[in-house]
Amino acid sequence: MSKPRVIVTGGSGRAGKWILKHFVEHNYEVINLDVKAPDEKICRTIITDLTDLGQVHNALSMFSTGNRQEVAGIVHFAAIPEAYMVPNEVCFRNNTMSTYNILEAAANLGIKKVVSASSESSYGICFASEFFEPAYLPIDENHPQLPEDSYGLSKVVNEVTAEAFHRRTGMQVVSFRLGNILWPESYAPIKANFDDTDARLRILWSYIDARDVASACRLAIEKDGLGAVVMNLAADDSSSNRPTQELVDKYLPGVKDIRTPLDGRISLLSSARAKELLGWEYQYKIMEQ
Ligand SMILES: NC(=O)c1ccc[n+]([C@@H]2O[C@H](COP(=O)([O-])OP(=O)(O)OC[C@H]3O[C@@H](n4cnc5c(N)ncnc54)[C@H](O)[C@@H]3O)[C@@H](O)[C@H]2O)c1
Repeated sequence: MSKPRVIVTGGSGRAGKWILKHFVEHNYEVINLDVKAPDEKICRTIITDLTDLGQVHNALSMFSTGNRQEVAGIVHFAAIPEAYMVPNEVCFRNNTMSTYNILEAAANLGIKKVVSASSESSYGICFASEFFEPAYLPIDENHPQLPEDSYGLSKVVNEVTAEAFHRRTGMQVVSFRLGNILWPESYAPIKANFDDTDARLRILWSYIDARDVASACRLAIEKDGLGAVVMNLAADDSSSNRPTQELVDKYLPGVKDIRTPLDGRISLLSSARAKELLGWEYQYKIMEQ
C-alpha cells in the first residue's frame, strides 16, 4: 500500500525541519514547498514562491492531479515569522497571499485538509508599541485579537481566510496559534538567561517545542470533522523558572480575571482546546532539555 502523502510548506525553516522529520518518521511521503532549499535533506523539496498562485497550483498538481485521494493534507508553515523583520507591507503581503494561494489551490485540487501556522502574536501583546495586559488569564482562543503590527494582522487575516475556504468547500483548516517555538539548540541560551524575567514577558513566557508542534500537525491531519478551527498550542509549563503567580503579580497586576488557578509554572496560554479536540499532549519540557 502506498504511503499517505503530506505537503509541508516552510519545511526549510526552523519549525518546518522538525515537521518534515516527524511525518517521515510516521511513514508519510513528505514533500516540502519552500522558496529556499533546506540545510538538511529530509525529503523532496520543490522550490516554490507561495505568493505566486501559478507556482503553488503547479507544484501541488504534481502530486494531486488524477490521484487526489493520495494527498492527506497540507501543513502550511511558510511565512515571514515575526514583525518588523521586513517592511510591514512585505510581511503582510507574503503571509496573507501565501496562505490564500495554498487554500485556493488546495480547494481547486480537491485537497480536503490544511493545517496553518497562526501565532500567539495575533493577540497583539507581543509586538504592541505600548505594552498592554491581557483581558484575562490564561489566554484561550476567545481572547480578543488586537494586533497593531502587520505580522499579527496577517495571522488574523489568515484565520478568516481559512473560515471562508471552509464555507466554500467544506475543507478542514486547523489554525494553530503557536507559542514561541523552541528546538533542541535553543533551550540553553534561554535557561542561561532565566534571571532576566523581562526577556520573555511579551510572549507571556510561553513556548512550544517544534517536535510537539509536529505531533499536533499530524494529529490535525489525521482527524476528521474539525471544520475551520483555531487552537492555541503551547507547553503546559512556562519558559521561566519563576512561579507563574509571581510573574503575574510583578508584570500583570491589572489582570483581575484569573480563570484557572495559576499553580506552579503553569503556562498563561491555554492549550485545552487542542488537547480536547486532538488528544494532543506536549512531551518536551524546557526543564528536561
Ligand atoms: N518561531 C516562532 O517562535 C513562531 C511562533 C509562532 C508562530 N510561528 C509561525 O510558524 C511558522 C514557522 O516559523 P519559523 O520560526 O520556522 O520560521 P522560519 O523563517 O524559520 O521558516 C519559515 C520558512 O518559510 C519560507 N517562506 C517564507 N515565505 C515564503 C514564500 N513566499 N514562499 C515559500 N516559502 C516561504 C522561508 O524560506 C522559511 O524556510 C511561521 O508561519 C511563523 O509565523 C513561529
